[in-house]
Amino acid sequence: MQFGYFDDEAREYVITRPDTPLPWINYLGCEDYFGIISNTAGGYSFYKDARLRRLTRYRYNNAPLDSGGRYIYLRDDDAPASPFWSPTWQPTRTPLDEYECRHGMGYTTIQSTRLGIKANTRYFIPLGANLEIWQLTLTNQRPEAANLSIFATVEFCLWDAMDDATNFQRNYSVGEVEVVDGVIYHKTEYRERRDHFAFFTCSEKLSSFDTDREAFLGPYRGWESPRGVERGSLRNSIAHGWQPIGAMHVKVALQPGEGRTVIFLLGYQENPLGEKFDPPGTQTINKHTVVPVIRRFLQPVEVSAVFNDLREHWRGLLGKLQVHTPDIHTDRMVNIWNVCQLMSTFNFSRSASYFESGIGRGMGFRDSNQDLLGFVHLMPEQARQRILDLAATQLPTGGAYHQYQPLTKRGNNEVGSGFNDDPLWLVLSVAAYIQETGKWDILDELVPYDNAPGTEENLYAHLQRSMQYTLDRLGPHDLPLIGRADWNDCLNLNCFSSSPGQSFQTTTNKDGKVAESVFIAGLFILAAQMMIQITLRRAGDQEAQVYCQAIDHMEKAVWAAGWDGNWFRRAYDDSGEPVGSSTCKDGQIFIEPQGICIMAGLGIADGKARQALDSVAERLATPHGIMLHQPGYTQYYLNLGEISSYPPGYKENGSVFCHTNPWIMIAEAMVGNGARAHDYYLRINPSRREEISDVHRCEPYVYAQMIAGREAPTHGEAKNSWLTGTAAWNYLAVTQWILGIRPEFDGLRIDPCIPPEWDDFSVERIFRGCRLNITVRNPQHVSRGVTRVTVDGVKIEGSLVKLEALSGAHQVEVWLGG
Ligand code: BGC
Ligand code: NOJ
Repeated sequence: MQFGYFDDEAREYVITRPDTPLPWINYLGCEDYFGIISNTAGGYSFYKDARLRRLTRYRYNNAPLDSGGRYIYLRDDDAPASPFWSPTWQPTRTPLDEYECRHGMGYTTIQSTRLGIKANTRYFIPLGANLEIWQLTLTNQRPEAANLSIFATVEFCLWDAMDDATNFQRNYSVGEVEVVDGVIYHKTEYRERRDHFAFFTCSEKLSSFDTDREAFLGPYRGWESPRGVERGSLRNSIAHGWQPIGAMHVKVALQPGEGRTVIFLLGYQENPLGEKFDPPGTQTINKHTVVPVIRRFLQPVEVSAVFNDLREHWRGLLGKLQVHTPDIHTDRMVNIWNVCQLMSTFNFSRSASYFESGIGRGMGFRDSNQDLLGFVHLMPEQARQRILDLAATQLPTGGAYHQYQPLTKRGNNEVGSGFNDDPLWLVLSVAAYIQETGKWDILDELVPYDNAPGTEENLYAHLQRSMQYTLDRLGPHDLPLIGRADWNDCLNLNCFSSSPGQSFQTTTNKDGKVAESVFIAGLFILAAQMMIQITLRRAGDQEAQVYCQAIDHMEKAVWAAGWDGNWFRRAYDDSGEPVGSSTCKDGQIFIEPQGICIMAGLGIADGKARQALDSVAERLATPHGIMLHQPGYTQYYLNLGEISSYPPGYKENGSVFCHTNPWIMIAEAMVGNGARAHDYYLRINPSRREEISDVHRCEPYVYAQMIAGREAPTHGEAKNSWLTGTAAWNYLAVTQWILGIRPEFDGLRIDPCIPPEWDDFSVERIFRGCRLNITVRNPQHVSRGVTRVTVDGVKIEGSLVKLEALSGAHQVEVWLGG
């Protein structure tokens, strides 16, 4: 069952009924001001940081679902007894005669018709501005004139979303607004330490307004039935404490067939510290800085122009890599939606989505480094800055803060460090940056540790410390010690927690000298391979030799203690017992070490990789994707931690944890099994799963973190859509390993591993300033094996296209064969 369809031409997903199984959201904003918006206009806005600078309120986990948004009401002033309605369905949920939501790249349009009144609202955030535009066009399709009242509303958040949701004894007394010349200003705490305020205004003269929630809604009423809308006029209330809101009332008269566009603006403005007030000495906001901005964006011509700029911006981004394959789901995800999701993971890491509250987690060190692997070709300069920001939160030990706040860019002390895989991901992101851009100078950038001035070293030294961090922490089997956790945040082998509510990750009560991770061993080898190539260019053979030996050593440890006979083991616990072994009762085989160790090249030459992958196929693969481990833990294990806290089949306890599936796709591609790689790709591909939207339930246009595993009663149900490393890794798996268009230090490798039935495919790729039009032909129907490559008709040796001296457009033709 479906709730909409893809409009690939327009690069939109079209939702055709408002009551989707969950709110299906989209993101607005590209730079500093952002918003989340659902298919019924739910969501909220923030400036840079969803926790510390939230503009509007949203009620997570509420009933009804998705409460709080950019809500508009329409009222028929000629028929006051007939019910008013929401043209975006929520919050009144009045039946609409027609409804359609189009989520596009950085904008969402919701269109509906009720009783002959068509309403089309386009929500977007222009580039270079800290505001959002709601462009509402009403059309009267009735045979007679219509007199309508429009009400546009937001509920202000008192900035710090955490405090806003908890500190009522204070917050009920601090709310303040001003209303001047048709603009509602929200200025809570502006009198003291804040230099910023929000504004809400529109292109029409206000008939009335409210800024006090109770005045607008009426006592004991909710957003579905505001008294002010019912009455048809607002009270011009000025909020003092309690809940400041913005509610604007505009009247329009429309002749039959007539249309009218009204522009609403919601924005954020900072004033220079010395110029906060005007006149000076008063408590009145200085509006000289914001009024020109408001004037500019209330002009319809300007609004059209900035919307076109936004579309152009996205056209440019998507144009960096376009593919044309025999499979629609591959094309649609790679060309449009996977990129859209990559932008969101870059912007928000794991902070703000429908499942992430914006207050729980900042930017993850591990997460953001991995997100960069898929993002780097889209905006290399931004990727570079992100790498430097991340590296600046690294600690002198080589370890890293697990998270940092985007506004301050400072490491988050509550979570701290000690996730022993973290530093290694920095090596992978830096390598990906150099492979994409060829810009080796990033290694010379001076970056502090823990943001402390005076501690600067070059980025190369940061990478060395990342590697050393692992080598300094080896356990009894010479495998890396796991610390609080590795990639699997819930495999907590040093946290024996028996009190409810304790954090599994930060309550560390073992000395951590025993529990080891095979996963980190694989990751270390992968990172060390990058270091060898980097070092060869930079520090010469001798230092490269150090990493060669480290790999050697680590491989030996993996084969000695990390191989279980048919697959790689996962870890050793605090008593030295294996995790992920056939000797275990539950959790006998885990996906992560199969993926990462094979990606690091282990077992490829001697068939063990294939053996491990066959075990994955046999024991972990389901039609809904590959599960994290099997069997799921059926009881709580003190020595394993959070992983066993989930009922089997959910989250880290044996769900299809989508992030890890592409590792197996890559591994399958590395051993030459293109059919299986692509089959796995399709199993979790959201577009492919669109037809089972009633089972999948999350958005069919973006990946979700997890799909309930076979042991869950809801097998196939997705959760935690949007902000997941799945976005970057699937993009990598399909573009670099299945389609095989892979940046390397010395150029672009073309080495596909595709389903053998494919005749051909083509790719347009911008790479190091060149536009490459790549055609791959597969006349003998093989999976892999490049037999010939030509660049502009001239044959090259091997499959690596070197571009040093080139610019402009080039034709690359590739033949596969046996
Ligand atoms: C979740 C993990 C997540 C972790 C973050 C756990 O509850 O299951 O997916 O990475 O929290 O701290
Ligand atoms: C989600 C976290 O954001 C990520 O860092 C982690 O690797 C996975 N969960 C698995 O636990």
